[in-house]
Amino acid sequence: MTTVAKPKAGLEDTVATSSAICYLDGDRGVLAYCGYDIHDLARHATFEEVCYLLWHRRLPTRAELGDLQSQLAEARPLPEPILRLMRTLPPGITMDAVRTLTSALSHYDSDAADQSPQANYRKAVRLTGQISSIVATLGRMNKGAGPIQPDPVLGHAGNFLYMLTSERPSGLATRAFDVALILHADHELNASTFAARVAAATFTDIHPAIVAAIGSLKGPLHGGANADVMRLLLEIGPDGGPEKAEAVVRAKLARKEKIPGFGHRVYHTEDPRATHLRQMSKDLGQRAGEPFWFEMSQRIEAVVKAEKNLNPNVDFYSASTYHALGIEIDLFTPIFAVSRVSGWTAHVLEQYANNRLIRPRAEYIGPEYPQRYQPIDSR
Ligand SMILES: CC(C)(COP(=O)(O)OP(=O)(O)OC[C@H]1O[C@@H](n2cnc3c(N)ncnc32)[C@H](O)[C@@H]1OP(=O)(O)O)[C@@H](O)C(=O)NCCC(=O)NCCS
Repeated sequence: MTTVAKPKAGLEDTVATSSAICYLDGDRGVLAYCGYDIHDLARHATFEEVCYLLWHRRLPTRAELGDLQSQLAEARPLPEPILRLMRTLPPGITMDAVRTLTSALSHYDSDAADQSPQANYRKAVRLTGQISSIVATLGRMNKGAGPIQPDPVLGHAGNFLYMLTSERPSGLATRAFDVALILHADHELNASTFAARVAAATFTDIHPAIVAAIGSLKGPLHGGANADVMRLLLEIGPDGGPEKAEAVVRAKLARKEKIPGFGHRVYHTEDPRATHLRQMSKDLGQRAGEPFWFEMSQRIEAVVKAEKNLNPNVDFYSASTYHALGIEIDLFTPIFAVSRVSGWTAHVLEQYANNRLIRPRAEYIGPEYPQRYQPIDSR
């Protein structure tokens, strides 16, 4: 009889694969993509440069970046059948629509049947361009507005905001959104990336692997938390102020409820992404004439730190940042996918390049073996 080792609940601290994409040090609060510290990337890079970095493990030259920008621009206009399908979906549950539409994209992908590394790379680029257009267009349709064609002159962040609002975004809004995309692009073996790699390891194609990732991202313990943070802030209300924020959060903690946007499986210190998002939430909130969301968030952070010794994660300040950019709650988690598709696809390509089926074991804790089979009438 084979015996299997007892698992660590939630595979905590279990190393499940080797990867050259993302370096995480949860004790020192370090996050780096292919060796580049997230703080440097957030200060200096663009999302497109980060995509190139994740896919190629090095920063692009100007010519390589230009090529990638052209490929993304080519990918952004959505196939007409996708727009038609989008119109038939019930409005409002945007993350489900993103999942369905991403799945449907495979039917219209010219490389669908080609599993060569070159074709898979083209599909990675295409999915990154297309998912952004899907989310922006869903945002418009949720409000009863029609789709906006992408503008090839604008970059990825600018195009998203333009396709969402039909207005040319300011330089400040574009850069803030670009930084948010950079911060969310990859995070090692988080749940959705692991799901993508497990699917890819069967050598299924890239679309179903990304669909698996989107399904995992939706959960409130993962990407769904950013929308829950905004729901919490709205529950306190714009006039609530830090005192009400503190009272609401203390009451939740007393009821043993989790506060969305806090805690992390890997970080035991400040999440380096939260450092940038905190500042963005403050600056953008002030500019939008709504500093109170940040003020309430700060008080919540202080209470959760004092009571539970937990730090904000990437989702906490991204909520008030997106709100200050005028983005609806229902798009918060889909926006996570707009960025993370770059990391998911990088991991899928890495899995394909050095694959072994991912097939772990379970510790059996069910009824003792063997049980005697009882005919149905004598049970
Ligand atoms: C991220 C998360 C899933 C990590 O979970 P985990 O490593 O499995 O940690 P656990 O859920 O086992 O939590 C450990 C302890 O901290 C507490 N805790 C963790 N996150 C908490 C939160 N956000 N609010 C209040 N308490 C929290 C748990 O209640 C538990 O306390 P206990 O030991 O007294 O029961 C968890 O922190 C969480 O649910 N956070 C809220 C959702 C969120 O923001 N998700 C986005 C992650 S980027």
